[in-house]
Amino acid sequence: MDTSKGKIIISGGKPLYGEIPVSGMKNAAVAILFSTILTEDKCIIENLPDISDVNVSLEILRSIGVKVRHLDKNTVEIDSSSAAPCVAPYELVSKMRASYYLIGAELGRFGRAFVGLPGGCDFGVRPIDQHIKGFEALGADAKIDGGYIEASCPDGVLHGNSVYMDVVTVGGTINLMLAAVRAEGITVIENAAHEPHIVDTANFLNACGADIRGAGTGVIKILGVKKLHGGTYTIVPDMIEAGTFMILAAATGGNLKVTNLIPKHMDSVTAKLCEMGVKVEEDGDSLTVSRGDEELQHVNVKTQPYPGFPTDMNPQMGVLLCLAKGISHLTENVWESRFRYVEELKRMGAKIQVNGRTAEFTGVPSLHAASVRAVDLRAGSAMVIAALATPGITEIEEIHHIFRGYENLIEKLRAIGADIKVAYPENISYNVF
Ligand code: EPU
Repeated sequence: MDTSKGKIIISGGKPLYGEIPVSGMKNAAVAILFSTILTEDKCIIENLPDISDVNVSLEILRSIGVKVRHLDKNTVEIDSSSAAPCVAPYELVSKMRASYYLIGAELGRFGRAFVGLPGGCDFGVRPIDQHIKGFEALGADAKIDGGYIEASCPDGVLHGNSVYMDVVTVGGTINLMLAAVRAEGITVIENAAHEPHIVDTANFLNACGADIRGAGTGVIKILGVKKLHGGTYTIVPDMIEAGTFMILAAATGGNLKVTNLIPKHMDSVTAKLCEMGVKVEEDGDSLTVSRGDEELQHVNVKTQPYPGFPTDMNPQMGVLLCLAKGISHLTENVWESRFRYVEELKRMGAKIQVNGRTAEFTGVPSLHAASVRAVDLRAGSAMVIAALATPGITEIEEIHHIFRGYENLIEKLRAIGADIKVAYPENISYNVF
């Protein structure tokens, strides 16, 4: 469905109750899908979220000759045996950030890659210099020219090397891992990112015969292997989707059991919620979050690479800080520009002052309903939280951003009592609740 013209319409202000399940992790899924190019054998990927970034990734794979077969809504069989390092259509790669994984995967499999510059959410400058530095350290010639990245190894093979990443980068760490898996010799990535999706991608590659050690720590060692075989792999739960639902419970004042998550991944979010007076109870692979009648307490938050508080939870946390008693500060340490959502929350009566990388939130008892935009993916989910916590009817535009990363969002929210629907220009009706 083309969601670019639709609006999400929410009648909010009611506490939400019940169970809400978490889908497979977007940022692991996209990395693993492109990793399948590294093997000529078939792979089966399970718990794949049905979201537009995954669908675009599958389209990109098809465009270079990969055969993709859906076994069910969340399971695909991927056969890369006839993949070729041809140019994927620019209109596809420019739709999402993770298309840069084509470079590492094609370099690793074919010794060359020619890929359009990636798109994705607009957080200011999004360089890929560290990816290129890594490919060059393994012996590739890489250059950016006319909107494309061209990389090739002079003798057709990459050679392992030690690479120190100047900044902690998720994409750079994964891309270098992909290039190094079939390189000759040993590659060591120092100052590697620690995110769970790096561990998940390494686990998938190891399940296919790679030898990657230390994923999840700051030093990753990759012993190159000649060939990878196929395998079946289940993607981990999405920690950002889980965190979004946890904050939703705190913002609406309801009681939500967020199921199918890994509680450890949520530690930084859980810690901040508890500091604000929210109750979080762990039970196996679920967390139950409730605020009760307590007022939310102000808190200071700084985003950091994992295991710090995730930048991808900045906007959702921003909504909660709007509603917390007193003055809170939220500092963004990963992206240059992640506060574009602030203007949207101000339309709902939020009191926020942005000063460089820090936003100051002065709590208000309630926001008011308004028309707002989803300026990017996580900003969009923040608007959904804000709308659900606010009495009256809020409309959210530019919702295609939201469906890039949240599977079955409308259905999942309806199941916990939300009055939410998507309306399109020809049949918008405002008296539906
Ligand atoms: N950076 C560089 N040079 C590089 C690469 C990154 O300077 O070569 C800088 C960036 O400018 C940024 C920082 O390093 O300041 C971190 O960037 P990173 O490379 O870690 O980001 P990414 O890999 O492009 C992934 C997620 C983002 C998430 C960031 C940070 C995917 C597909 N995307 O992006 O997720 O914000 O890591 O955790 O994995 C989202 O899901 O909504 C999303 C935007």
